[in-house]
Amino acid sequence: MTDVFYASYYGSSKQYADALAERLGVTAREISDESASLIDVSAAAPIIVLSPIHGPSHPGVKFVKELEKAGLVDKRRIALATVGMTLDDVVVAQDPAGELLGNLAERVERFYLPGRMNYSELRVKHRNIMKGLVTMLKMKPGKSKNDQMMIDTYGEDVDRVDLSRLDAIVEWVGNHT
Ligand SMILES: Cc1cc2nc3c(=O)[nH]c(=O)nc-3n(C[C@H](O)[C@H](O)[C@H](O)COP(=O)(O)O)c2cc1C
Repeated sequence: MTDVFYASYYGSSKQYADALAERLGVTAREISDESASLIDVSAAAPIIVLSPIHGPSHPGVKFVKELEKAGLVDKRRIALATVGMTLDDVVVAQDPAGELLGNLAERVERFYLPGRMNYSELRVKHRNIMKGLVTMLKMKPGKSKNDQMMIDTYGEDVDRVDLSRLDAIVEWVGNHT
């Protein structure tokens, strides 16, 4: 059976994980300290991990590294779906999850899904990070279109979650089951 795991601060990655799991006839499980040790190494179906990215902090990458330690990356196919606000074409070209995975990247299929950021619900810590980031971007000469998007949407509620984007992952699972 396919395993679907997720991490989520504000619910968008969970929303994708639940919708994906439903399409695959399984239940999505939140990543916990015990998750890696509970996975069946000998199952044939893939493991899919969905997670937000916050700059260099990526709970999904951290989890995939735990899967590697548990010997699962060589035994099961692994896909990592990163949920974020970076513009689609930009994030695919930058492949930040690939970068964070380092030499594990070639053994992990990466997907990128558009996320949701509601400034109205951000925790103080996250709000302050965004404030610092956008202040810096405003002073930056030669802003990229992604920089400009972050400046323009600062303080707003933006929901780009699009469940039809899961089609590509469902197709990948079909090809690896
Ligand atoms: C402090 C902070 C940093 C973020 N950094 C990134 C980032 O580096 N790249 C990106 O694409 N999205 C970034 N985001 C956007 C989140 O990844 C996005 O809102 C995601 O949908 C959140 O997932 P969740 O609802 O499951 O918590 C950041 C959001 C916050 C609050």
